[in-house]
Amino acid sequence: MAEIAVVGTGYVGLTTGTCFSRLGHRVVCFDNDAAKVEGLRDGHVPIVEAGLDELVTQGLEDGLLRFSTETKDGVASADFVFLCLPTPDLPNGSVDMSYVDAVAKQIGPWLRPGTVVVNKSTVPVGTTRHVAQLLGRDDVFVVSNPEFLREGNAVADFLNPSRVVVGGDDAGAVERVAKLYDGTNAPVITCDATTAETIKYAANAFLATKISFINSIANICEYLGADVRVVADAIGRDPRIGGQFLQPGPGFGGSCFPKDTIGLLRLAEDAGYDFGVLRSVIEANDQQLARTVAKVRDAVGGSLRGMAIAVWGLTFKANTDDRRHSPAVEVVRRLVAEGAQVTAFDPTVSGVVPELPSVGVAANAIEACRGAEALVVLTEWREFAIVPPASVREVMAGAAVVDARNLLDPGSWRSVGFVYQGVGFRPQ
Ligand SMILES: NC(=O)c1ccc[n+]([C@@H]2O[C@H](COP(=O)([O-])OP(=O)(O)OC[C@H]3O[C@@H](n4cnc5c(N)ncnc54)[C@H](O)[C@@H]3O)[C@@H](O)[C@H]2O)c1
Repeated sequence: MAEIAVVGTGYVGLTTGTCFSRLGHRVVCFDNDAAKVEGLRDGHVPIVEAGLDELVTQGLEDGLLRFSTETKDGVASADFVFLCLPTPDLPNGSVDMSYVDAVAKQIGPWLRPGTVVVNKSTVPVGTTRHVAQLLGRDDVFVVSNPEFLREGNAVADFLNPSRVVVGGDDAGAVERVAKLYDGTNAPVITCDATTAETIKYAANAFLATKISFINSIANICEYLGADVRVVADAIGRDPRIGGQFLQPGPGFGGSCFPKDTIGLLRLAEDAGYDFGVLRSVIEANDQQLARTVAKVRDAVGGSLRGMAIAVWGLTFKANTDDRRHSPAVEVVRRLVAEGAQVTAFDPTVSGVVPELPSVGVAANAIEACRGAEALVVLTEWREFAIVPPASVREVMAGAAVVDARNLLDPGSWRSVGFVYQGVGFRPQ
């Protein structure tokens, strides 16, 4: 059993700390958000993540998991300190390292000799060495251990990872971090820190590329009269391509892909390499958002001014409450900017949406549609797929449906009079 301190108890830190307690380690999770820590001590999990509530409760009951705002007490007695801090993008596209830097400087004097500081935040290549300098100690180790969990599936991904990557200069420290994952049966890839940091950016950039690629193919399908659903299925069966991340939509978003693609582009630029492919991926994503808005505009006759629009879904994907850089939020923002009156429903949202103050929030999917000229589906929550189209038809003023996730069954919506449009196949 190792003594683990986790600094930053957000999506990654809370999942990491909780799952390490599940693997039998003694964990203390720190956050400077006192209200969050207070809630977690009572077993209140502030994010929507399947299975996490149960594991937090279990960890608290077993005495293997605790939460604190007092970083010093736990860090000073830890064998491992995981940094799970935010690394948002700055307006110039570079990574805001202020959270990681501040904590590294703060904890340096507190660490006991032999402690391994493990960076789990997604950070620019070279950060492992940079953190070692900020710690100002030659008797502790710094290792990179990037996180690949998918929000909505975070617990399962942590406990059954496709791989664990650990990179650092000291083979003993790398080995000790790798051993923490005993019990997950994960293939472990050990390497130097620069390679580990690069792996994380390469993974996210590749996934974003897949999304922009299939969105572009979907757009071509609309011009040619082909059906992207069949194209994606057929190409995805080739194991060299793989079927995941081949669903076209309104564009990628979330707390990682937008900032990590821009971050890698910036890293490449700084290194003197023009990463043209990645620049196109980012541009294609912005065009996809614009294209989604254009479909809604066209569906209501060419102008959104004064139009009542119903929106289903605000989170960046289903099964999470995360709206950071959500394509749904961005599409709604653009609809509102063109004069639309938007009423939205999302299973994780109630009351006002702070980033969309003029948008009405309905209590359920049907209520969002009352009086609307068009319905726009922006997040792939499964529960939207089973809403009876006839019930929606009864309350809507218009009959346009723009399904930006290809979630609904076009036939059943058309059969009750809707003019349905998906992504990547022609409306009939
Ligand atoms: N969310 C994901 O799906 C995901 C997946 C892989 C990697 N990552 C990376 O992991 C990192 C963390 O992401 P996240 O989504 O968990 O962020 P988050 O914003 O959900 O969590 C960060 C937490 O750190 C806390 N914090 C900030 N400063 C602190 C300080 N000085 N002391 C203690 N706590 C502090 C915040 O209050 C917050 O709770 C980022 O680099 C991100 O790119 C995220």
